[in-house]
Amino acid sequence: MSNIVIIGAQWGDEGKGKIVDLLSEKADVVVRFQGGHNAGHTLVVQENEFKLSLLPSGIIRDSTMSVIGNGVVIDPFHLIKEIAEIENKGIKITPDKLIISENCFLILPIHKFIDQLREKKISSLKTKIGTTGRGIGPAYEDKVARRGIRIDDLKNKNIFLEKIKNIYDHHNIWITHHELKKINFEIDFEKLLKAYEVIKPFVKNSWRELDTFVEKRKNILFEGAQGTFLDIDFGTYPYVTSSNTIAGNAAIGSGVGPSKINYTIGITKAYTTRVGNGPFPTELDNEIGQKLALKGKEFGTVTGRKRRCGWFDAVLIKQAVKISGLSGLALTKLDVLDEFEEIKICIGYELEGIKINYLPICEFEQNRVKPIYLSLKGWKSKTLGTKTLSELPSEAIVFIQKIKEVVGCDIDIISTGPERNDTIFLKKIFN
Ligand code: IMP
Repeated sequence: MSNIVIIGAQWGDEGKGKIVDLLSEKADVVVRFQGGHNAGHTLVVQENEFKLSLLPSGIIRDSTMSVIGNGVVIDPFHLIKEIAEIENKGIKITPDKLIISENCFLILPIHKFIDQLREKKISSLKTKIGTTGRGIGPAYEDKVARRGIRIDDLKNKNIFLEKIKNIYDHHNIWITHHELKKINFEIDFEKLLKAYEVIKPFVKNSWRELDTFVEKRKNILFEGAQGTFLDIDFGTYPYVTSSNTIAGNAAIGSGVGPSKINYTIGITKAYTTRVGNGPFPTELDNEIGQKLALKGKEFGTVTGRKRRCGWFDAVLIKQAVKISGLSGLALTKLDVLDEFEEIKICIGYELEGIKINYLPICEFEQNRVKPIYLSLKGWKSKTLGTKTLSELPSEAIVFIQKIKEVVGCDIDIISTGPERNDTIFLKKIFN
């Protein structure tokens, strides 16, 4: 295998950062292809903690090239801050380590303002999405509406001026309606031009750069952000993010054609979590849910919000396997279940008395499905840090086997702790 895609198989926060980091050891290039700084990856390397939002996880490795592909939306101020934070930890980020696609769309200060205004003031409790408030949705909206600004537009001051004025004029109609004041573009215009000077050395035609890597048969890792059920098309709409998070988007968000991708891996926790609002069939609004949150340290990397927790939902993972054509799964945070007497796996749903084995598209029905559980005996012993399958307690092996059986996909990696070597590899992923 040489080119592989990693995606989240649940609602994000599955522990993709660690898996990407592990696999990036053998990767020559790591590519982000969607989302923006709404993502949050924590990498733990020899007691050093790196928090990444926008930068690809390969950035902390000396010999890996990181690419922010065209499908990503960029807040230039955040990007500069994140680069500085990583550099402060001793990692030098130079243009021969990082490429930013010239056709990435920008998240402007007005996008962040709109995102927060909608969430905090305008939406009712019922219609609030619970976004990260970072302007992701409004930036993608402007992209699709064909009034967005791409990094490349900053090359020409006059073109940029015309475009930023157009965007601010457009949004100010709505903003003044709610806020009785408009947002001036002039200060942001100047600040963005300054920011462009800082990031300019990294800005390149990324599909052509990537094509060179493909031609040279380099190992490329496509790093997904968020998760399958936050996908704008296949997620629990409207409680989703504004990009496609499934594997198919790796090709679109990078310009590397689908036939060049050899393997796709979905990351899933051994239980389920979600931040923000929206349907969650196996959510546990009880002591068990609280125990999962506590043991799993389930607080968002980006917003610090508490994550909602529930049992492993095999129906969702099976659906993720189909939609992304997953070749294998990585099962993370197995150790969080170490102290439970009983562990449950959702193997189907009941909707109005009828058994179904998929999550319906309709929000109303998504909220009404009732999980059908398979109950298993907990292992009540320590799996934290386990490195081989044979060291796992037999009950944990039964749990893993059951998941594989119900989901219909191989489990190729098991993660048993936050450190790089707290991992069981069941398949050689890169040659
Ligand atoms: P947005 O991406 O900020 O527009 O937020 C839309 C939804 O996606 C909200 O429910 C967020 O909590 C969720 N979301 C966005 N990024 C992440 C992530 O990296 N992990 C988990 N949830 C996320």
